[in-house]
Amino acid sequence: MTERMGFGMRSGVNGSAEAEAPADPPLPADARIDLARERADSQVDEVLDALDTELVGLVPVKTRIREIAALLLVDRARARFGIDSGRPNLHMCFTGSPGTGKTTVAVRLAELLHRLGYIRKGHLVSVTRDDLVGQYVGHTAPKTKEVLKRAMGGVLFIDEAYYLYRAENERDYGQEAIEILLQVMENQRDDLVVVLAGYKDRMDSFFSSNPGMSSRIAHHIDFPDYTGEELEAIGRLMLAREGYALAPETEPVFHDYLERRRARPRFANARSVRNAIERARLRHANRLIAEGGRVGRAELTILQPDDFLASRVFTEKAAPPG
Ligand SMILES: Nc1ncnc2c1ncn2[C@@H]1O[C@H](COP(=O)(O)OP(=O)(O)O)[C@@H](O)[C@H]1O
Ligand SMILES: [Mg+2]
Repeated sequence: MTERMGFGMRSGVNGSAEAEAPADPPLPADARIDLARERADSQVDEVLDALDTELVGLVPVKTRIREIAALLLVDRARARFGIDSGRPNLHMCFTGSPGTGKTTVAVRLAELLHRLGYIRKGHLVSVTRDDLVGQYVGHTAPKTKEVLKRAMGGVLFIDEAYYLYRAENERDYGQEAIEILLQVMENQRDDLVVVLAGYKDRMDSFFSSNPGMSSRIAHHIDFPDYTGEELEAIGRLMLAREGYALAPETEPVFHDYLERRRARPRFANARSVRNAIERARLRHANRLIAEGGRVGRAELTILQPDDFLASRVFTEKAAPPG
């Protein structure tokens, strides 16, 4: 289980849940609220901008997150007039292959919901079946409750959530975890957003066997596999952020690298790009040390073709499909 704090986390700043407690008298019917000002005060644009700049592509995902932010801002304004529309259900399902940005977006989402006062803390607790389900009778409920306790005030991200349900075994302890989650998800006063993540097809069959879970999910967001161009742009973004650049001769090699890597088993979209860059950094460092001698900024930052060409995707014959 991992726990991550969003960037720039703050607590109890304007617009926190307390500010809208029913104790505040509602505004008079002819009052005006400046939404632009509300938006600026919540500092939600910083998170939305970070999402835009740190993630290549994913336009439909970014649009949905912006829409959710708008809904919560308007809800807050309505609440100030005493208009109660109930707490919106924000449990979500993120479908897509590994490395398509689901966890990264969930971290930003947690931060956004915190800034809009929807959750108190804004952290993300990422778990899989093993964190929730015990091996023996009586172990599951305490495990699941412990995780829920840690996630309160934040986002609980359940990766490959369909492993909680095993159709072939009706006595499986996963069912117990599902039931506890359902209860907590239903109780909207709980200060928690649950995000179920995983492959689309498996998630669809999980929902058809667990209609209760399906009905509690308000937003289904799909993360498509990246195109070749997007993968290259992601690579460039990662390199730039880490203070590296490709030599002109390395450009076609990097392109070729990504094409080959994509065709191989266990390709994981942006995660594979990240791993490729990390290995190239290792080779680069080893090459510089082996060469010895004096280096300047250029040598320290520029990746040469050999830093990629030594990869298995070039040295091994293409793996059989599958
Ligand atoms: N669109 C993107 N642009 C830039 N980097 C990305 C993008 N999508 C994913 N990444 C990076 O790829 C890695 C894996 O992403 P992650 O969010 O863990 O994917 P998932 O949860 O879908 O497996 C992270 O380092 C993330 O920052
Ligand atoms: Mg992930």
